[in-house]
Amino acid sequence: MDPQRFREQFPSLVDTTHLASCSQGAIATRVTAALAEFAYLLRDQGAPWGPWMSEVERLRASIAAFLGASADEIALVPSASHAAYQAVGALRFADEDVVVSMAAEFPSVGQVLHACRPGEGQMRWVDDASMREHGVVEAYRAQIDERTRLVSIPLALYTNGSLQPVNEIAKLAREVGARVLVDAYQATGVVPVDVAEIDCDYLVTGTLKYLLGLPGVAALYARAGVEDEQRPTMTGWFGRTDPFGFDPVALDGPAAARRFESGTPGIPPVYAAQAGLQVLAEVDPAARWRHVASLVEEATARLTEAGEVLSLPMPDARPGPQVALVDADPDALGRFLAERRIVTSPRGSILRAAFHYYNSSEDVETFCAALAEYRRSA
Ligand SMILES: Cc1ncc(COP(=O)(O)O)c(C=O)c1O
Repeated sequence: MDPQRFREQFPSLVDTTHLASCSQGAIATRVTAALAEFAYLLRDQGAPWGPWMSEVERLRASIAAFLGASADEIALVPSASHAAYQAVGALRFADEDVVVSMAAEFPSVGQVLHACRPGEGQMRWVDDASMREHGVVEAYRAQIDERTRLVSIPLALYTNGSLQPVNEIAKLAREVGARVLVDAYQATGVVPVDVAEIDCDYLVTGTLKYLLGLPGVAALYARAGVEDEQRPTMTGWFGRTDPFGFDPVALDGPAAARRFESGTPGIPPVYAAQAGLQVLAEVDPAARWRHVASLVEEATARLTEAGEVLSLPMPDARPGPQVALVDADPDALGRFLAERRIVTSPRGSILRAAFHYYNSSEDVETFCAALAEYRRSA
């Protein structure tokens, strides 16, 4: 399916330039229909647990297929923070153990690592200055040693979308026997992500951004065969071998990643996520990424030529699915663009413009023209 036909499935794109997929993807007709089906089932059946649970399992299978995993390796959880917590919680840290992550990590994952770290001083952050000077891989190398038990790597940065050299860093982690956690939230849906090619034990992602769903459901990929050093303490009836056995006394858990689940999943976002994944599945992943990468290249060239300051990838990272403008007041710029129905995503000192398969060169043009108007009016 070509980008134009794909775009036609998103009604808002008739009058809106949606450049905020790094925050919330545009909503496809099929997603709205899935939410209507959810509402209809409630009206019709009152308490439709059977259809709900079937949809949950369909979503698990779809996410697994999307990531190249098996359904048994996917836990459905409420947020990426929750997924990160479950992954870190599977390790039993000794006092001298160390966790290594990037200071540019998204806070929800970074903060979870920080909160779960073994002890004072045992969280090591790879900072921007060392990445800029030595490259990302060398900056990680400087922090990883035989005390390292866990290395966390964001696949695509939430700030400028840049794609990190995950496997090179994972190799450093493996050399010292550390586990690897990858946050792929800012990549899945546009950048092809295949867990067979990523050397990680855990990967977290969520469904509201490029996966075209809604807030409320996220996924933890936990590689089969990677043993928990301790049982999940954040748990509930959905983490049991047979949730519908309703046994409060036996604390069993399946071998499957479902052991990391807790309570009733957010059912409306499950319906939305499953529909979003079906929409995405109609496009070849390589074609999706080629289109998005070419829009990012076009936008980068146009903005650079216009004299905009961009937040660019570190020396050994690659451009991802978005551009990031450095601006004195990104919120004001975002409001100006929103008044022209251009949806972007300001964060701190940058304004993010993200591209999906539904975006076009005309969107790049609309964005650049509005930006030029804003600069002239300033
Ligand atoms: C890379 C990345 N990880 C995690 C999150 C947040 O995850 P959650 O709110 O589900 O914890 C975001 C953005 O919302 C993100 O960009």
